[in-house]
Amino acid sequence: MDSQKNKATDLIRLAYEAQKRSYSPYSGFQTGAALETAGGKVYQGCNIENAGYTPSNCAERTAFFKAVSEGERSFAAIAIVAGPENGDLVLTAPCGVCRQVMMEFCDYETFPIILGTSPKDYKIMTLKEILPLGFGPKNLNIEL
Ligand code: THU
Repeated sequence: MDSQKNKATDLIRLAYEAQKRSYSPYSGFQTGAALETAGGKVYQGCNIENAGYTPSNCAERTAFFKAVSEGERSFAAIAIVAGPENGDLVLTAPCGVCRQVMMEFCDYETFPIILGTSPKDYKIMTLKEILPLGFGPKNLNIEL
């Protein structure tokens, strides 16, 4: 129980560190993520916006794509923090596109998504809870 709490707290701190590197001149909304692999390694990500708007990437996907491109395929948890520049953190759940990316690589029933507003104040939800009736590799009979 306590170790789970410490793990959430550690991941939120790393997400917060990543949030500081957010490149978000258009929305002014800064996001950070810390993605822990099954092996215990952590990949950080921030949102990266673009003058063309659509090429913008969320913090969560930055973390996943960094990790997958380094050969990771199995993930234990992700922490996310977000909020306006120079403002307080606000509880922010992943966008639909990021949820779908999680669907590709994470356990549907158990993958914990830690939504933090401070290291001590957070909510944990599973992928299934935030993406009911999710469509993933199993729907195509693909066992990964
Ligand atoms: N954003 C994320 O990075 N993650 C989320 O969970 C929600 C939204 C980013 C996308 C965009 O750069 C900015 O926040 C405003 O939508």
